[in-house]
Amino acid sequence: AVPNVNIDMYSTSTPPEFPRHNLHFQEKLGEGQFGEVHLCEAEGMREFVGGDFCLTHTKDKPVLVAVKMLRPDATKNARTDFFKEVKILARLRDPNIVRLLGVCTRDEPLCMIVEYMENGDLNQYLFKHEFEGAVPSASNAPMLGLGALLYMAAQIASGMKYLSSLNFVHRDLATRNCLVGPRHSVRIADFGMSRNLYCADYYRIQGRAVLPIRWMAWESILMGKFTSQSDIWAFGVTLWEILTLAKEQPYAHLSDEQVIENTGEFFKDEGRQELREKWRSLLSHACNIHSWGTSEVYHRCPHPPIPRRQTT
Ligand code: ADE
Repeated sequence: AVPNVNIDMYSTSTPPEFPRHNLHFQEKLGEGQFGEVHLCEAEGMREFVGGDFCLTHTKDKPVLVAVKMLRPDATKNARTDFFKEVKILARLRDPNIVRLLGVCTRDEPLCMIVEYMENGDLNQYLFKHEFEGAVPSASNAPMLGLGALLYMAAQIASGMKYLSSLNFVHRDLATRNCLVGPRHSVRIADFGMSRNLYCADYYRIQGRAVLPIRWMAWESILMGKFTSQSDIWAFGVTLWEILTLAKEQPYAHLSDEQVIENTGEFFKDEGRQELREKWRSLLSHACNIHSWGTSEVYHRCPHPPIPRRQTT
């Protein structure tokens, strides 16, 4: 059995400081939770990290990294969140978790350097593929077979097993939070990067916390209880996304309010009326218990929401 060790036992000293002038800007990858994310060439990174597993596939090539910067006008809360994420990531070492390579924190803007995953996020990756072996397709979209899909799912399971072995609860597992590298390699990404881009996947409970309700176990919605077990629920939804090639949102035919209403489905049976009353009262209190997402960054939505992909 895996011992229930606390993640604090793995704490390292502060993550290594990488010389900022060795980062050479290539292009903007996008907008993350904290600010812009840039693709950079990192001169001397291989020596900096030593013979680490994460850079072996780039032998003889310049090392490309993703640099997440804290926007200059960031609030104190966002700054705190930035350092919190650095602290968490610095402790995680697993082939299926995106690796923090270093930081630039001696001067502004504060930067987190993580390994670059060349095929971007898993949601978009799946969305642009078609299922190999289905009815002959007229489109010339690239194909993914069942073997590749299961391989990607197994890697996410492996990364999550690692997190749960540290008693670490992710709380936001979804394909949008996984990144794809070469040869269908997948890593669970830095936590919380996608809340802006995928704002249609998050629901604001009565103007309070912004929550990924379609990936949340009912006890998380009703009681704000997040555990490794609720991560497994989210893994189930993630599996569904993978096997449907992320062509639509989970429960696309339901509104956010209907998804929440459905947490009481179990209590609709005769003989569960008493429990149903309890569920009603939990639901009415749900909006008061979620303290998640207190940081201002969760409340911003600079991009237009990604349209719900409707079923025909
Ligand atoms: N976008 C955000 N982080 C990324 C990463 N590590 N690799 C590729 N694209 C990204």
